[in-house]
Amino acid sequence: MATSTITILFLLFQLCTTSLILVSSARCNKDDKKALLAIKSSFHNAYHFSSWDPSTPCCDWYGVECDPATGRVTALSVFQDTNVTGPIPSSVASLPYLRELFFHHLPNLVGPIPSSISNLTHLEYLTISWTGLSGSIPSFLGSLTSLTQLDLSFNSLSGSIPPSFSQLRNLISIDISRNHLTGSLPTTLFQLLPPSSQPAYLRLSHNNLSGEIPKSYADVGFAQVDLSRNRFTGDGSVFFGRSKPVQQIDLSRNLLEFDLSKVEFPKKELMQVDLSHNLIRGRIPDGIIHVWNLQFFNMSYNRLCGEIPSGGQMGRFDEYCYQHNKCLCGTPLPPCK
Ligand SMILES: *[C@@H]1O[C@H](CO)[C@@H](O)[C@H](O)[C@H]1NC(C)=O
Ligand SMILES: *[C@@H]1O[C@H](CO)[C@@H](O)[C@H](O)[C@H]1NC(C)=O
Ligand SMILES: *[C@@H]1O[C@H](CO)[C@@H](O)[C@H](O)[C@H]1NC(C)=O
Ligand SMILES: *[C@@H]1O[C@H](CO)[C@@H](O)[C@H](O)[C@H]1NC(C)=O
Repeated sequence: MATSTITILFLLFQLCTTSLILVSSARCNKDDKKALLAIKSSFHNAYHFSSWDPSTPCCDWYGVECDPATGRVTALSVFQDTNVTGPIPSSVASLPYLRELFFHHLPNLVGPIPSSISNLTHLEYLTISWTGLSGSIPSFLGSLTSLTQLDLSFNSLSGSIPPSFSQLRNLISIDISRNHLTGSLPTTLFQLLPPSSQPAYLRLSHNNLSGEIPKSYADVGFAQVDLSRNRFTGDGSVFFGRSKPVQQIDLSRNLLEFDLSKVEFPKKELMQVDLSHNLIRGRIPDGIIHVWNLQFFNMSYNRLCGEIPSGGQMGRFDEYCYQHNKCLCGTPLPPCK
């Protein structure tokens, strides 16, 4: 009895020390550590990296996440530090197992999006937002086929959206709002998303994009679309439809010119529609009263005409949601003649 207890205790002890050794070797891969220390040094050891002490396991460092089984670095986040200056270091390419790369609120991070990012073939989430990055959006991002979410908002990027983005069959969210983009929308964007995919997100507000919204976008299941404050022309009705999963459509402040009369609104999901400041004509379809969760509806500064439908959620919206149209009438505007 006593002997077997001792044996069991001994075995337990062995098991524990073995797993301790496994855990500690998983606390930092030496190549990844070298790459991280090179990144720290490129950023002149800014305060953000003060926990990055070479004598400690890199998986414990601030902003670093590892795969617990392999000890490989899978996520790197650098954010909110004005002392992080200079370009994105090429040493990020030496973190080959990165799934998530996050550079946020770093006003002194400058230069272009470096080609080293193209080595990160496991990348699923790429965020470079609120930085001083400039230059064009490189088309090599289109070869990062694992990418599901791309956020390049609030930078100084220029040029157009690379057509290569259409190859990203897992990409469901694109945010490049608040940059200086020009050119038109790639017609094949999101076309490879399987029908079973989660709904897509497209945010491109506050740029100088132009041209027509591709008809092919009618086949994409969008959850949210924000194309506001650009110079888009033509038809914006592609995003509407009775059975679409769309919750938010903001096409305000463009040059869209289409007839709203025949548009069908999804009843279930739709919450926000802003079409203000365009050249939209026709009347507001009665179907709007069946959108049971409508919380925002702005049709002002267009060329709409006819009686504003009443009922449903329509009582929520004041006259400023309809001002400056051709001949809209009825509550909350003066009665129709
Ligand atoms: C940034 O650098 C300045 C000057 O070296 C220093 O005074 C300041 O504390 C630093 N800020 C942070 C967040 O480290
Ligand atoms: C990135 O990939 C290129 C081409 O495959 C290769 O030549 C280069 O050494 C890689 N860079 C790093 C830092 O791994
Ligand atoms: C758009 O272009 C106009 C002139 O072409 C320029 O004045 C304006 O700053 C640009 N806007 C943005 C957001 O880049
Ligand atoms: C609708 O848009 C107009 C014009 O931009 C604006 O004046 C008004 O405040 C907006 N209404 C709401 C509820 O946001």
